[in-house]
Amino acid sequence: MQVFLNRLRPPLLVVTTALGEERSGCIVGFSAQCSTDPLRYLVCLSPENHTFAVAHRAEALGVHLLGEDQRDLVAIFGEETSDQRVDKFATVSWRRGETGVPVLADCAAWFEGAIAAQIDLGDHVGFVLRPVVGGPGDHSGVLRFDPDGDYQPGHPLAEGIERRRDAPDRVDEAELESFPASDPPAY
Ligand SMILES: Cc1cc2nc3c(=O)[nH]c(=O)nc-3n(C[C@H](O)[C@H](O)[C@H](O)COP(=O)(O)O)c2cc1C
Repeated sequence: MQVFLNRLRPPLLVVTTALGEERSGCIVGFSAQCSTDPLRYLVCLSPENHTFAVAHRAEALGVHLLGEDQRDLVAIFGEETSDQRVDKFATVSWRRGETGVPVLADCAAWFEGAIAAQIDLGDHVGFVLRPVVGGPGDHSGVLRFDPDGDYQPGHPLAEGIERRRDAPDRVDEAELESFPASDPPAY
């Protein structure tokens, strides 16, 4: 299986979220489009991460595809943790999106997704997203996972931090419609 995974080289995303004034975000390699009708995108978050703790109670996620020149964002969002009082958003340019999530100014493409479901997948929780709005970014190419990359994740998977997992598995569909959606997003 490792041979397969080493060849896969998934894109590295910055996934952001917010709850009131609390913001969080991390690098995500586990993601994929998982339905066309309705259009849905799956992002997998580890409960070890601060981002999960916020996302688990939030209504939406911001998903950013990085350009191939944006390795510096992996250092900020993938190798630091907000559990150590790091404000990752102090060093990047961002704005508050339609759904309230931070939207990064610099990326290759982005969308905001309403959280349609949270599914326990093992050591990650799958967040099924209904795209609400999105657009292109200025960076070209796609930054992909490098099997030889010397990554130092802010939270190694073996830490075993217990986060609360008390949100419902599935969000009420009527509630989900509360974000005005251009579905599919216009880009
Ligand atoms: C290359 C790479 C891929 C990663 N993929 C994921 C992922 O798919 N899901 C996840 O929850 N964390 C993933 N991480 C780990 C988080 O990005 C990392 O632990 C981050 O520091 C967590 O920050 P936080 O505690 O502020 O949320 C990845 C890290 C790296 C470097």
